[in-house]
Amino acid sequence: MASASAPILITGASQRVGLHCAQRLLADGFPVIFSYRSERPGVALLREQGAIAIHADFASEAGIMAFIEALKAHTDSLRAIVHNASQWLGETPGAEAEAFTRMYNVHMLAPYLINLHGAELLSHSEFADIVHISDDVTRKGSSKHTAYCATKAGLDSLTLSFAARFAPAIKVNGIAPALLMFQPEDNAAYRAQALAKSAMGIEPGAEVIYQSLRYLLDSPYVTGTTLTVNGGRHLK
Ligand SMILES: NC(=O)c1ccc[n+]([C@@H]2O[C@H](COP(=O)([O-])OP(=O)(O)OC[C@H]3O[C@@H](n4cnc5c(N)ncnc54)[C@H](OP(=O)(O)O)[C@@H]3O)[C@@H](O)[C@H]2O)c1
Repeated sequence: MASASAPILITGASQRVGLHCAQRLLADGFPVIFSYRSERPGVALLREQGAIAIHADFASEAGIMAFIEALKAHTDSLRAIVHNASQWLGETPGAEAEAFTRMYNVHMLAPYLINLHGAELLSHSEFADIVHISDDVTRKGSSKHTAYCATKAGLDSLTLSFAARFAPAIKVNGIAPALLMFQPEDNAAYRAQALAKSAMGIEPGAEVIYQSLRYLLDSPYVTGTTLTVNGGRHLK
């Protein structure tokens, strides 16, 4: 069964990097299924362009399992799964456990369960990939965003384990970006400081993630690898 036309699932595609990659995949001829949590303008845009939207909140096991059930109701095959959904929460005193749990659920439990239950959908595709969007910060740890960093590091570990578990039928890789896009509220001082951290010194935008994603999808020989996309941040 299936198929060159099996869809690519991308999570958290209502804005920014996920939205950009979903639009680029559609423009390149891949059918797309995406998850969204908030009804942002990007959701309507992607629907208009032919993508299938599935509401999902990965804050709990129940929310993740409800998404998997809805996914299976929409398709019996997948070409790839791209885990892009993410939360970057602060760790306020007294609420650390809640923040850690929320980020654990979105960065680790959701990919873990979606991969386990999605493997059968991927098995119907001649070429099959899972891509975890991680973060370059896992390379060195973070004194300020310890929980975010730890849960993304857990995602890096899932890349290795699932790559071994699913080989050779499914390739499993990660992409670890450093700064891609500022938030609109980031001020000039913050922007200057962040830009100075990398050798390239630019805000590259979401296209560098699409380029990396296409490389991983197109390569027949790369699995269990996390691709660093950090503008040479490790050089400074
Ligand atoms: N932007 C950067 O500079 C940068 C740097 C390093 C790594 N990254 C990584 O690159 C990826 C994309 O970054 P981005 O800046 O585009 O992220 P973003 O703007 O924060 O978008 C992530 C999406 O994840 C969804 N999401 C968050 N919590 C969720 C939950 N509990 N359940 C379901 N969906 C949830 C959100 O959905 P809704 O909007 O629908 O609520 C959001 O649109 C992320 O994995 C991020 O960690 C980004």
